[in-house]
Amino acid sequence: MCGIVGFVGVEHAALPQLLDGLKRLEYRGYDSAGVALATPAGIAVRKAKGKLSALEGTLGTLPVEAPCGIGHTRWATHGRPTDENAHPHLDCHGVIATVHNGIIENYQELRQELLDLGHRFASDTDTEVIPHLLEEYGANEDLVRAVRLAEKRLKGAYAFLALSSRQPDQVVAVRRSSPLVVGLGSGENYLASDFSAFLARTKRAMVLENGDMAVVTPTAVEITDLQGYPQSRDVLTIDWDVRQAERGGYPHFMLKEIMEQPEVWGDCLLGRTDGDRVVVPELGLAPEQLDGIRRVQVVAAGTAYHAGLIGKILIERLARVPVTVDVASEFRYSQPVLEAGTMVVAVSQSGETADTLACVGLAKALGYPTYAVTNVVGSTVTRESARVVYTHAGPEIAVASTKAYTTQILVLTLFALALAAAKGRPRPDLVRAIRRVPNLGAQLLADVAGIQAMAKRLAESRDIFYMGRGLDYALAMEGQLKIKEISYIHAEAYAAGELKHGTLALIEEGTPVVAILTEPTLAEKTVSNILEVKARGAEVWAVVDRALARDLPADHIIPLDLAEPELAPAVAAMVLQLLAYWAAVSRGEDVDQPRNLAKSVTVE
Ligand code: F6R
Repeated sequence: MCGIVGFVGVEHAALPQLLDGLKRLEYRGYDSAGVALATPAGIAVRKAKGKLSALEGTLGTLPVEAPCGIGHTRWATHGRPTDENAHPHLDCHGVIATVHNGIIENYQELRQELLDLGHRFASDTDTEVIPHLLEEYGANEDLVRAVRLAEKRLKGAYAFLALSSRQPDQVVAVRRSSPLVVGLGSGENYLASDFSAFLARTKRAMVLENGDMAVVTPTAVEITDLQGYPQSRDVLTIDWDVRQAERGGYPHFMLKEIMEQPEVWGDCLLGRTDGDRVVVPELGLAPEQLDGIRRVQVVAAGTAYHAGLIGKILIERLARVPVTVDVASEFRYSQPVLEAGTMVVAVSQSGETADTLACVGLAKALGYPTYAVTNVVGSTVTRESARVVYTHAGPEIAVASTKAYTTQILVLTLFALALAAAKGRPRPDLVRAIRRVPNLGAQLLADVAGIQAMAKRLAESRDIFYMGRGLDYALAMEGQLKIKEISYIHAEAYAAGELKHGTLALIEEGTPVVAILTEPTLAEKTVSNILEVKARGAEVWAVVDRALARDLPADHIIPLDLAEPELAPAVAAMVLQLLAYWAAVSRGEDVDQPRNLAKSVTVE
């Protein structure tokens, strides 16, 4: 939700660095964007509704040589996407500029107070209270002191950057829940919502923690708490290959990220099996401790929740340990009943989803061990959880999650296998077979012309139903989300046996139904459900294990070469991703930046 960047340098001008950073953060929000540069003559601001390209068209007369500035790409929460509501926001005299990510919960009360004191507001945003508060607390003379005083008045989860034309060689940053990292250059330093903003320039970075304030100049980064006591943060080397965060010849990040799955699956599995055994030392649990786990509680949102559903089936099937999977936004307010021996697993690509983080906090407060399955090194969930298992998918830029989802599935599969072994139910066949999954994925991706042709036809649909049983139902849920979010076609997923309990009434001549069949033991039942929908006129598109494809009563068949059914989801998921991708392309939609969405949901 919203991307913020800051740059302070000597040799390089800030503007190109800010624009490059914003381009890389645009996935976090893209309804408007803006930049502010500090010059001794005042703050120069440009902002525009729409994508970054709209902002670029307004930059003509900016003082391009200014070496210090801040920028923002927005996902609207308070106030519609307009030029006025775009960040940066200024105080009454145009001396102080701020960009902000998150929500100031008490902004209405603060706004009224500031209005009563004579401040003039130019937007409907919650953010604008910050520069006015800073002005009120004397930022004209001392920005750092004003930030400290103003921050005490703010309630909510946020990160913000402040810039003053009176001290034009520094940016002051505050982190309170929303992510913020510092990039360390030579004679220049960066601030950003995530590493990808500056990865092309430096791989050395620090992650700010909640309650940190950073004063960043070209040659120094001073971190304190909000009382002013010095804090020290580790300097990390971010080993993401910057090319992974670029499109590399593909028309969209989403296609690139789909296509690189076999490779990142290899990275994800690397060193995590040894012969017939799963080895995930990051879990920090000896087999006897794993054996002590009586129940698993997964919390996640969206696609990560769907990965959790696959994890549930596998853990229950292989390890015979009960698993509950909850949508994080529900779990956090559900007064959950957890029992001794429960392991809480938070699944989150970004590691920044506000609801998922709240669940981790809740579980910790209740005294349960928390484990994070995440993709982003140094993300908040990694610091809030007792243990972290990384998915190693590399940066995922497209808003629609693909490689992060399938690597989450692989990590949960490894976990299921480790737990199964600890419970005396080892599956050496699956441990050996999981190493073949990247090859099966590569094989599938070698010929996708058939999937592309089908997607073009599906793209003409108004509604699509997805159905399956067991793992295939969990996959169906992800399939329908993927197509909805990027092609805007209405889609629903059903447990195949559930259709006739009501939804069958919606099937009419030509209604598209995508049936997923990778589970041999359940295939016969799903075939009956295919016959039921066909009898009502549905056109059935089957994504099916090649071994089950013979005589299938479907209109269109995508046969898959799969490993054992427990290892099929990652490979089968790629077909659903490609169907969604090409359906969206064929409808001319903005695949990487679908309307109304943002990559990481750092607000409730
Ligand atoms: C859909 C998608 C979202 C995310 C969800 C959770 O393609 O990407 O549904 O899965 O917002 O995000 P993370 O995994 O970052 O917690």
